[in-house]
Amino acid sequence: MTELLPPDAAGVARAALLLRGGRLVAFATETVYGLGADATDARAVAAVFAAKDRPRFNPLICHYPDAGAAFADVAADAAARRLAAAFWPGPLTLVLPRRPNCRVAPLAGAGLATLAVRVPAHPLALALLEAAGRPVAAPSANRSGSVSPTNSAHVLDGLGGRIAAVLEGGVCPVGVESTVLDLSGPTPALLRPGGVALEAIEAAIGTVATGSGGPLRGPGMLASHYAPRLPVRLAAEQVGADEALLAFGTPLPGAGALYQLSAAADLREAAANLFAGLRALDASGKTRIAAMKVPMRGLGLAINDRLARAAAPRTAGLA
Ligand code: TXA
Ligand code: MG
Repeated sequence: MTELLPPDAAGVARAALLLRGGRLVAFATETVYGLGADATDARAVAAVFAAKDRPRFNPLICHYPDAGAAFADVAADAAARRLAAAFWPGPLTLVLPRRPNCRVAPLAGAGLATLAVRVPAHPLALALLEAAGRPVAAPSANRSGSVSPTNSAHVLDGLGGRIAAVLEGGVCPVGVESTVLDLSGPTPALLRPGGVALEAIEAAIGTVATGSGGPLRGPGMLASHYAPRLPVRLAAEQVGADEALLAFGTPLPGAGALYQLSAAADLREAAANLFAGLRALDASGKTRIAAMKVPMRGLGLAINDRLARAAAPRTAGLA
C-alpha cells in the first residue's frame, strides 16, 4: 500500500521519517514529481532503480534545500556559483565533480566522478529536504521510459504499490524536467533542455555547447523516453481520422480528438500541459498522436526534446 500524505507539516514530517528510514517517497517539485530516496543510503538508492525499472547506468539527480548544502558534496566553480545565485531554487540541474568527502552513495551517480545537483523551487519539496537533513536522490516518479508525472494521480498510476508514500503537492507548475547543464568539462554543455531556457543560461555565463542541432546526450539518456502508449508523429500539418491532435495555437482542422497545449501559443503554458496532454490523448481511443509544430526558442527546446523522444523508435527492454 502506498500512503498518500497531506501537503502540511504532518505530511512532511511523515515523509521525512520514511525517507530517513530508507523508504521511497514521491514528492512534488516545480518541474515534475520526483521519486525520493536517502542519497547516502545505497540500499535506498538501489530500491529507486528497482521501483522504476531504471537501468543502473542512468545516474540520478540529488536534491538539496540550498546551494550551500549542494556545494558540500560537489566542487562548484565560478560559473556554478553564478548560476546557483541566478536560478536556484529553480529548474536547473548542475553536473559537477564530486568532492572527495561527498556523502552520496556512488550508485546514485552511476559510479561517475560527477554528480548532478539541484535545489527545487517547490515549497513542500524544500520543507521535505530540510526535514530529511540529507541529500535526496530523486528521478522523475514514473516507470523508466514513460511520461513524467505532473500530479499525484500520475505517480500512483505508475508506481502505486511499489513505493512507501506520495506527498500530495498538487499540479507541478513548470511541467517539464529541469535543464541539465554539465559544468565538469572545459566548456559548459547542455545535456537536457528543461525548465530554465538556454537563452537565460547563456545570458548569465556565456555560450553553452549544445551539439549539432540539439543537446548533447548525457549518460544513460536514451533516444526513446517520455513515451506515451500511442506512437507520436511530429510537425503534423494535417490530422488523419485515426489520429488525436496535440494542438499548439490554432488547431489544425478536422481533429476528432484534441488536446490544446496552449490556445495562445504560449510556450510556458504548453510546457506545463505537455505530459498531461500526452496522457489524455493516450486515453482518446485513437491509434496515433499527431503533434503540431512548436517553435525552437525558450521552453520550446524542452518541449521539442520531449516530443522527439516520445516519437523515437522504442528500445525494447530499456525504454
Ligand atoms: O526536474 C527534474 O530534473 C526532475 C525532478 C524530480 O527534479 N528529475 C528528473 O530526474 O528529471 P531524471 O532521473 O528523470 O533525469 C535525470 C537526468 C538524466 O537524464 C541523467 O542522465 C542526467 O540527469 N544526469 C544525472 N546525473 C548525471 C551526471 N552525473 N552526468 C550527466 N548527466 C546526469
Ligand atoms: Mg525521468
